[in-house]
Amino acid sequence: MASTVRAVALLGAVAGVAGTSDLASYVLPLTGSQAGGNTFPGVSEPFGMVKLGPDMDTGPNSGASSYSGYVGGNAFFTGFSMLHESGTGGAPKYGVVSQMPVTGGPVSNPLVRHADARGSVADVASPGSYTATMSSGIVVDLAASSRAGLYQYTFPNRSTSNSVIVDVSHYLPAPDRAYLSQHYLNGSITVSSNPDGSGLQYQGAGTYNNGWNLSPGWTVYFCGHFDSLGTVQTFIGTDGTSSTISQFPAASSIATTKSRLGAVFTFNGSTASTVTSRVGVSFISAAQACSNVDSQVPAGTNQTALAAQTRALWNDQVLSKITTTDTSNTTRLQLLYSSLYHMLLLPQNKTGENPLWTSTEPYYDDVFTLWDLFRCTTALFHVLQPTMYEEFIRSLVDIWRHEGFMPDARSSFFNGATQGGSNADNVLADAYVKGVRGSINWDDAYAAMVTDAETVPVNNNDPRDPSGSTKEGRSALPDWHLYGFITRTFGRSVTRAVEYSVNDFSLYQVATGLGKTGDANKYLERSRNWRKHWNPDAKSLGFSGFLVPRTKTSFIAQNPLLCGGCYWKDDYYEALSWEYSFNAHHDIYTLVNYSGGDTTFSDRLSMMFVPGQRPYGSAQFNNTIFNPGNEPSFTTPYLFNFVGRQDLSVKYSRAAADAYYQPTPGGLPGNSDAGAMESWVLWSMIGLYPITGQTTFLIGSPWLSDLTISLGAGKSLQISTTSTGDNSSSSQSIYVQSLKVNGQPWNQSWVTYNDIFSNGGSLDFVLGPQPSNWSSLGTPPPSPATENSVTPPLTMPTIVDDLDRRFNWRVARPVLATLGSAVGTTMILATVYLYTHRRRLQLNPEEPPTTETTLPTPPLPPQTFASRSIGFFNGVASLPAQLTRWVEGRLVGRRRQTTLPIDSDGSLASAAAAIGTTKPATVPDVAKSVASSSYTGSEVTESSVDDVSKDKTQVQVSVEAVTDSSNPSSSEAV
Ligand SMILES: *[C@@H]1O[C@H](CO)[C@@H](O)[C@H](O)[C@H]1NC(C)=O
Ligand SMILES: *[C@@H]1O[C@H](CO)[C@@H](O)[C@H](O)[C@H]1NC(C)=O
Ligand SMILES: *[C@@H]1O[C@H](CO)[C@@H](O)[C@H](O)[C@H]1NC(C)=O
Repeated sequence: MASTVRAVALLGAVAGVAGTSDLASYVLPLTGSQAGGNTFPGVSEPFGMVKLGPDMDTGPNSGASSYSGYVGGNAFFTGFSMLHESGTGGAPKYGVVSQMPVTGGPVSNPLVRHADARGSVADVASPGSYTATMSSGIVVDLAASSRAGLYQYTFPNRSTSNSVIVDVSHYLPAPDRAYLSQHYLNGSITVSSNPDGSGLQYQGAGTYNNGWNLSPGWTVYFCGHFDSLGTVQTFIGTDGTSSTISQFPAASSIATTKSRLGAVFTFNGSTASTVTSRVGVSFISAAQACSNVDSQVPAGTNQTALAAQTRALWNDQVLSKITTTDTSNTTRLQLLYSSLYHMLLLPQNKTGENPLWTSTEPYYDDVFTLWDLFRCTTALFHVLQPTMYEEFIRSLVDIWRHEGFMPDARSSFFNGATQGGSNADNVLADAYVKGVRGSINWDDAYAAMVTDAETVPVNNNDPRDPSGSTKEGRSALPDWHLYGFITRTFGRSVTRAVEYSVNDFSLYQVATGLGKTGDANKYLERSRNWRKHWNPDAKSLGFSGFLVPRTKTSFIAQNPLLCGGCYWKDDYYEALSWEYSFNAHHDIYTLVNYSGGDTTFSDRLSMMFVPGQRPYGSAQFNNTIFNPGNEPSFTTPYLFNFVGRQDLSVKYSRAAADAYYQPTPGGLPGNSDAGAMESWVLWSMIGLYPITGQTTFLIGSPWLSDLTISLGAGKSLQISTTSTGDNSSSSQSIYVQSLKVNGQPWNQSWVTYNDIFSNGGSLDFVLGPQPSNWSSLGTPPPSPATENSVTPPLTMPTIVDDLDRRFNWRVARPVLATLGSAVGTTMILATVYLYTHRRRLQLNPEEPPTTETTLPTPPLPPQTFASRSIGFFNGVASLPAQLTRWVEGRLVGRRRQTTLPIDSDGSLASAAAAIGTTKPATVPDVAKSVASSSYTGSEVTESSVDDVSKDKTQVQVSVEAVTDSSNPSSSEAV
C-alpha cells in the first residue's frame, strides 16, 4: 500500500486558508432551518441580542410553530422582527419589534393579516445579511449590529404608495401548543415627523409573556427611524387580539394599553422606491433603545456597509479560530463553518440591558438549555471563545446571587424549563477543573452549586409536571436527600437520578479544588446514587442490567426499550433506559462492571447502532436505539474508548456524522438546540470529544488533513492527519493507526485539557482504512467516581406496578381532607338509612354480576344484611379515591386511550393521512393529533405507547390533556 502524506506541515507563520480569506463564504445560515432544525437564518452578531429576520407561517390557519420565525418552501412573510432565538423546541419565543412592508395603495386596516408569499426568488442568507423577495415584488434587505438593525425595502412599483406597518402586537405564536404560546399583553407608541415629512421616527414598548420557558410578562423598548420623506399615522385596535380597528389615525402618542397598536409609515411610490429604516432595541428604556441605534447604526448607514461590518466580525472573532489548508472538500468546510456560526447565536449577550438588577457582572440571557449544551457546546465555548465563556459563567453566578438559583434554561430574564438535573453545576465544574479563574468568584460559584444540591425550589405548578418546580434547581431533592434515589413521587425520576449523580460529581470536583474535604466526600458518595436505580435483573435484547424506576423497596418492572410518554411526568425524559443507562460518565468503570465487563459493555454499546432495534424509533435513523437527534445519546458512540475499542468509537461516531449532518436546510438530525447538535459534529470534525466536568477528552478521528485551533494569547492546537492507503478512497481512511501528542508517541485513547489546550499543543494522526488496536494497551480514560474495589449492584425485588402513576398526592391531599369530614357524616347517615331500610334491602333481588370475565363465576356467598352493609361501606370508603381521581383529572389532566393502525411497512402513514398531516409522523405525533380533535378546549400535552398488537398491525397509545392555560389571567406565569 502506498503511503500518501496529505498533512501539510504548519509553521507558526502559516495561518492556513483563513489568514486572509473570507471564511464567511463557507457559512450557509439556512443550514438546519427546515425539517425541525429550527435554526435562525437571519442576521445576528455572535451572541447578538438583536436577531433580525423574517417571521413566517404557512397560511392564515397555520397549525405549526415557526420557532425561529423562518419557514422554508411555500410560506408567507408576516413581518420582519428584531428579536429571535435559534434552534429551539418547546414553543416559539420572540418575533417581536417587527416591520411589515406593503405596496399597492393606502393601508385601510393595519390589523388584518398583511401576509406576502415568498416570491420566485429564494431567500439569500449570509453572515451579516439577509434578503427576502416577496411575491408582491418587494425586496427586503436586512443587516444588524448587536443591539440595532437596518431594514432596506425596495418597492416594485413607482406609481403607487408604499407602506411599512409597525404592529407592536406582532409575535410568534404557538398554534400547536397553546398552553406555552406567547401573548401580547400591552404596548405603547409615540411617533413624530418634521412638517416636511422628513425625520420620521417612532419609539415605544411592547410587553409579552410565555413561550417555551413559561415566562411572566417582560418588556422590550424600541426606537426606529425612517430615512425617507413620508407620513406616519398611529392605530389602535379594540382589544389585544382581534383585528378590529378602534382608531386609525389615532393620537401621535398612545400610552400603555392592552389593545393592539402601532403605526403605518407611508411613502410616495413615485419618489421613493427604496426606503431604509434603522431600529434599536433595549430592555431598559426607549431612550436606551434610541442610543443603541444612534451609536451602532447611525443615520446614513447603508445595508451594504453594516452587513460587511457584521460579516467581518464573524470572520475575525469566530470563524478564523479554526482554520485549515485542506480545501479539497467544500462540503466539509461548509459544514464546519456553518456549524460554528450556528453554535454562536445563543446565548445572547445582554450585558448592560438587564432590567432586573444593576451589577458589575456580565449578563447573558436566552440559554436553551444547559441540559442540551453541557455535553459538547460549553466545552467548545471554552476553547474557542474564552472571554465570552468566562463572562457567561459569571452571569450564571450573578443570576443565582439575585434570584436564588442558576438557570438550567432561561429566556426573557426568567429561568424555566429544567428538564433533568441542575446542569449549570456541570458547566461550572468543567470550567473549574480546566483552570478557568479570571474574574469568577468561585466561592459564590460553589455556593450556587450547593443551592442546587441542597435547596428544594418552589413549585411553579407547571401542568406538564406538577410534582415539583420545572423552573430551576432540583425539585426531586426531597427523595434524593432522604433515600439517595428518586421514586415516582417525582416525574422523570430515572433521568433525574442519573443527572443528579453527575451534578453531585460536579460539586465534588469544585469542593475538592476549594479544599472543602467534607463536602467533597459527601458529594462523591452522592454521585454514586445512580447505582440505586440499576436493576441487575432487568433484561433487554440479551443484555442484563438497566436503570429502572423504583419504589422505596423495590425495582419497578420496565421495558428498557420503552419510555412511556418520554416526557415531563414519565420515568424517562426524551430517551430510553437504554440511553440513560450509559449516562453516568463520571463512573464508567462501575457501569462497565455492572454491564458484565469490557466485551459485554462493548457489545452492548454496539447494539445501540443496530438498525431496527428501537420500537417506535425514527425511520430516518434506521430505528437505532442511538438517537443522533437528542442529547442523552451524544456521548454514547465515544464510550468504546473506555474498553479498548477506540476503533468502534470512530466507526459509529463517523457513521452518525456522515449520515445525519449536511450543510443543507434539512441537514440536522433534530432541533439544533441552540447549537448543541452543531457542537457535536464540530467535535467529530476536530477528532476529540469532551467529558464535561472532567479534564478528559476522548480521541476520535479528525476529518481534515490539518486543523489549527487558535486558543488566544498566541497559543494554538495543531492537528494533522496523514493517510495510509489508497488515496482515491481517502475519505474512508478514518481509523487511527497511530498518534503523536506534542511530538510524543501516544497509546492512550484520551488526552487531558493540560496536554493540548492550556498551553496549546499538537496532535498528529496517522489514519487508515482498517481498524487498528493502537490504543488498546494504553491506560483507559479515567473514571473518577469509581472506587478501587467494586461495589455490587443492589438486588431488590422487582414489582410490576400497575397503580395509576398519575395519582397526584399534592392535589389529592387537600381534596381528601375536605372529603374526610364529608365521608364521616355520610357514614353516619348511611348507617341510619341502612338500619331503617334493612327490610327492603333484604327483599331486593340480586344485581347481575358486573365482572366482564367469561370464566365461570364462583357461586356468590348468600347476601345477608351484614355482607350488603359491608359492600355499601366499601363503596362509600372508596368514594374519596374516586373523587380525588375525578378532581385530579379536572385539575391536572385526563388520559385517554386510542388505537392507531400500523401500515404494512411499519409506518403510521395511514393514521397520519387520516388526520391530514403529511409530515413524517411518529407515534406520539399522530396520537396527539388524533386526540387533539377529540379534546376541544384542552391541550394534549403527552402521549405514550402502551402496547402493540401481536400481529403488529395496531398500536395502542395513551394521550393526556390539560386544561388550556393559555388565558393569561389564569396562567401561573402572569
Ligand atoms: C455605503 O456606505 C459606505 C460607507 O459609508 C460607502 O462607502 C458606500 O459607498 C455606501 N454604499 C452605497 C450603495 O451607498
Ligand atoms: C466531502 O465530504 C462529505 C462530508 O464528509 C462527504 O459526504 C463527501 O463524500 C465528500 N466528497 C468527496 C468528493 O470526497
Ligand atoms: C458583551 O456585551 C458587553 C456590553 O456591550 C461587552 O462589553 C462585552 O465585551 C460583550 N462580550 C463579548 C464576549 O463580546
